[in-house]
Amino acid sequence: MIKEAALWIKKGEVIAFPTETVYGLGANALDEQAVRKIFEAKGRPSDNPLIVHIAEAEQLNDLVLQVPSVAKKLIEQFWPGPLTIILKKKEAVAESVTAGLDTVAVRMPDHPVALELLKEAGVPVAAPSANLSGKPSPTNGEHVYHDLKGRIAGILDAGGTGVGVESTVLDCSSDVPVLYRPGGVTVEEIEAIVGQVKIDPSLKSKDEAPLSPGMKYTHYSPNGSLTLVRNRMQIPTLLEEAKSQGKRTGVLTTEENQDFYEADVVVSCGKRSDLATVAHKLYQSLRKFDEEKAEVIFSEIFPSEEMGIAIMNRLEKAAGGNII
Ligand code: TXA
Ligand code: MG
Repeated sequence: MIKEAALWIKKGEVIAFPTETVYGLGANALDEQAVRKIFEAKGRPSDNPLIVHIAEAEQLNDLVLQVPSVAKKLIEQFWPGPLTIILKKKEAVAESVTAGLDTVAVRMPDHPVALELLKEAGVPVAAPSANLSGKPSPTNGEHVYHDLKGRIAGILDAGGTGVGVESTVLDCSSDVPVLYRPGGVTVEEIEAIVGQVKIDPSLKSKDEAPLSPGMKYTHYSPNGSLTLVRNRMQIPTLLEEAKSQGKRTGVLTTEENQDFYEADVVVSCGKRSDLATVAHKLYQSLRKFDEEKAEVIFSEIFPSEEMGIAIMNRLEKAAGGNII
């Protein structure tokens, strides 16, 4: 199966494959026509660049002009793993991969199927998350099938992914690294290796424009309206109001609190005491509200530290900034 998928990639087709974070939708990063098919299949805006996936650190030299020492340290520590590094690109990278920027994002996924596929294909593979643009990223093969059936050459299905949210995106193209997207490797873990990093101001304030093109789009949204609620004690009253308007209600909570709410759809997303379990289940939980046709959804919030930073970033996007 992996060999067959690698053949499709070599032929310039698009294949969905598992990584340790979410499923990716891959094509040969050096083949402009192949990369365009990714944008078509997802309905992705062409100004949103893709991450290039590699299986060996040496492949980086074919893609980027130079690897500064900060980037070297991070690669040593976190690859393979959920850390994407942005560096100044070389010509060979297809134009649409980088959406016209002079930098390219690269990572080495920590998943045996992904690594074998990349080795078999023998080329760097550009891959965004394998969802329809705007929907939650897929954390199993069925999610990919649901979103992209009939639009791509195939799906390498290896069951559920581990981390559950996407990789951390860090710009290392200038002296001090800048965090563009919080993800599977936490800021605390990065700072332990290279000292303090800058944080894209848009991650803290809605008034700032994001430095990374992809971060300006609404993402991960369920079909129903989602509101994040700082004080979860207010959720029962909010549910009553929605019910009185005849709405089908939903709550996103955790194992600790799941018996506290009376809603049509109560989704327990891991354990609050272990935020990695919440990240792991986050996207499948958001998809559940669509499956169960929830119309008005309330979610608890999570602490803005360690994995909580990535979780809150995705939830805020899913809610379109709707937090009370
Ligand atoms: O975990 C992941 O990163 C998954 C798996 C499949 O590897 N991929 C993923 O890709 O999440 P995608 O396309 O959904 O997100 C890539 C993000 C986008 O926000 C994009 O704008 C940003 O990375 N990005 C890519 N290249 C960039 C560049 N040169 N400069 C700034 N941002 C960039
Ligand atoms: Mg995505």
